[in-house]
Amino acid sequence: MTKNILVTGGAGYIGSHACVSLLQAGYQVVVLDNFCNSQPSALERVQQIADKSLLLEQCDIRDRAALDKVFSKHAISAVIHFAGLKAVGESCQQPLFYYENNVGGTINLLQAMQQVDVRRLIFSSSATVYGFPENMPVNEATPLAAYNPYGQTKQVIEQIPGDLCAPGMTESWQIALLRYFNPAGAHESGLIGEDPNGIPNNLLPYIAQVAAGHREWLPVFGDDYATLDGTGVRDYIHVQDLVSGHLLALQKLLQVDASEVFCRAYNLGTGKGYSVLEMIKTFEQVNNVSVPYRIMPRRSGDVASCWADASRAREELGWEAKKDLREMLADSWHWQCKKTLV
Ligand code: NAD
Ligand code: UD1
Repeated sequence: MTKNILVTGGAGYIGSHACVSLLQAGYQVVVLDNFCNSQPSALERVQQIADKSLLLEQCDIRDRAALDKVFSKHAISAVIHFAGLKAVGESCQQPLFYYENNVGGTINLLQAMQQVDVRRLIFSSSATVYGFPENMPVNEATPLAAYNPYGQTKQVIEQIPGDLCAPGMTESWQIALLRYFNPAGAHESGLIGEDPNGIPNNLLPYIAQVAAGHREWLPVFGDDYATLDGTGVRDYIHVQDLVSGHLLALQKLLQVDASEVFCRAYNLGTGKGYSVLEMIKTFEQVNNVSVPYRIMPRRSGDVASCWADASRAREELGWEAKKDLREMLADSWHWQCKKTLV
């Protein structure tokens, strides 16, 4: 029987890519989104790419009554929970708003799930929960030490499944916490991708906007880190690879018996780090464009380097990132060039 998967935040950057893959894999998709950081048109393009339709519930995860209605209307087998706010700077300005939306919204969602005995959940966490890790690569046993309100919301949310799955609980939940490193790239069709409002916070959308001439130059935040060329090193992972990790985690959760408790965190990264200067150079080469940049002071809260040990996801989910940096950068540029046209 076809399974209904509820995808919160399904109209967003990662959620929209996940919806395409879920539809292509034969799942029925119910998207729940309030469009605070996305457009309904993204979902039209999802359906165009997959050539299948999905169901949409325009709804806020903070609205418990609305969530209850969604769960009574659709027989949901599992929830993939992408909905959340993710701008670090904004979270420092408005911490309560972030806790309310991310933590409060997730508690609401879990309560609504519990009410109808839906206890399979995949949660979008982030490498930011590791804070300033001392050893590279970072594995899942690294203590959590988030240091900004956005990261703290992820860390707090991660603690809840631990309590739900504690020994002696009468209900059994099946939960996967997926810790993303640096999602990058876009769908190869160029129809969906990341479309930040205003000045991009993250490196790749900024590079793409400079290459497109929308911004004059890229600020490179610091060239005096203890890295090969002094600029920050990160583990960039193609959004399609990230999504394939969700599909494998979903399969795993659906295989676990409903009476069994399952709660596990998985790093999703490639295990390779690239510096800001390497990103700029490779983007220029792959796409035959120019990306002017200026070295600026360090951005506060940045770590020098961060890359993943993703061996647990490989061993337990059979997952591996397949797309390399060049593909990520080519797909980002394809989306940047095409998005004004779609
Ligand atoms: P995004 O902003 O593109 O998508 C999030 C979606 O959630 C949007 O469509 C937004 O409208 C929706 N949403 C937000 N609050 C909501 C609410 N209260 N009710 C209903 N819908 C709501 O972000 P993304 O990059 O696709 O990220 C998805 C998830 O992955 C987020 O939880 C984010 O924190 C996490 N994550 C993202 C990254 C990244 O770099 N993109 C890295 C690590 C973790
Ligand atoms: C950021 C978030 C983190 C989130 C992650 C994935 C911060 C402090 N952290 O991490 O919480 O989980 O994104 O979405 O925002 N850089 C520049 N110029 C720019 C932008 C970035 O030089 O204009 C550099 C940064 O200093 C860093 C690298 O590029 O070395 C990557 O930055 P970014 O894309 O913002 O990701 P993270 O800092 O890893």
